[in-house]
Amino acid sequence: MDRSDTVAAEMDPAALQEEALAAIAAAAAPDALDELRIRYLGRKSALKLALREVRDRETGMALNAAREAIEAAVAARQAELERSELDRTIREDRVDVSMPGTPHPRGHLHLVTQVRREVEDLFLGMGYEVVDGREVETARYLFDALNMAPNHVTRSPLHSFYVGDDTLLRTETSPSQIHTMEARQPPIYMVSLGRTYRRDTADATHSPFFHQVEGLAVDRGITLADLKGTLLRLLRALFGEDRRARFTTDFFPFTEPSLQVAVSCFRCDGAGCPMCKHSGWIEIGGSGMVDPNVLRFVGYDPEEVSGFAFGWGLERMAILRHELPDIRDLWAGDLRFLRQF
Ligand code: DAH
Repeated sequence: MDRSDTVAAEMDPAALQEEALAAIAAAAAPDALDELRIRYLGRKSALKLALREVRDRETGMALNAAREAIEAAVAARQAELERSELDRTIREDRVDVSMPGTPHPRGHLHLVTQVRREVEDLFLGMGYEVVDGREVETARYLFDALNMAPNHVTRSPLHSFYVGDDTLLRTETSPSQIHTMEARQPPIYMVSLGRTYRRDTADATHSPFFHQVEGLAVDRGITLADLKGTLLRLLRALFGEDRRARFTTDFFPFTEPSLQVAVSCFRCDGAGCPMCKHSGWIEIGGSGMVDPNVLRFVGYDPEEVSGFAFGWGLERMAILRHELPDIRDLWAGDLRFLRQF
């Protein structure tokens, strides 16, 4: 028996295959697998040496079967490792190709818009609805329906902006009352907020355009007490829960009686200070019980229903609350000013 016979004879292909397959399955990385491939299948591996010297067909077939099994195991393990390596690369080497965006500075609502929303919220909370009005009106809605005499001064083109013979920019939000009442029957509880236009020269307290909140409640049995309670609620929401309201007689063609509403000064609580010009009171705006002529104009029966209305300026509310010296600052568009609120 020569030496090579000994190698082939000593080789137990089944044991070798078992050992090799276990090692291959445990190989955790491509280079470890490569080492195993060299150890079990390389030119100097026991298997290759044995194969080279094999003499009988039986041993040859057994050794070849072991070689094939080990080759297949290496190939399978290699594919497995490559796949998991690919998965890892995809997972870990992901490149974020997005640019860091240009940040957009965040703005905030204009002061008058803030006041507007606050008033809307308060009335929505009391069951009112918020109604849109029209900025361009006809004389019918702006004057006739509101019981204004044919010679009323705001009918003059010297006071109002006409865009046609009979059409003009609204000078007040009160026509929204008429549109709402014409469209339906009582009960009506609505507010309407928006822009109004007057031919005024801008100064610290006047602007050719400004905003109003119009309010209207029409129902059976509405009284002055409803007006007072509702407007006191609004005043307290705007100027503080300790405020008191003062109602004095006034005149508007569309209300009877008409009332001017004032709030106790929130600076001195009524004692007298420069803010309230030492009167203790700050005038806020007009209100009144809806004139029977207005109710009749829209086809309501003043014997059946009654109502109250009010119309107040939003810029005025903002100016008072923040003690602003000049209404023009609100709409000059200077961000250094607007950002403060
Ligand atoms: N429209 C009036 C104005 O601009 C304000 C006003 C007063 C509205 C009394 C009303 C009201 O609804 O009842 O001066």
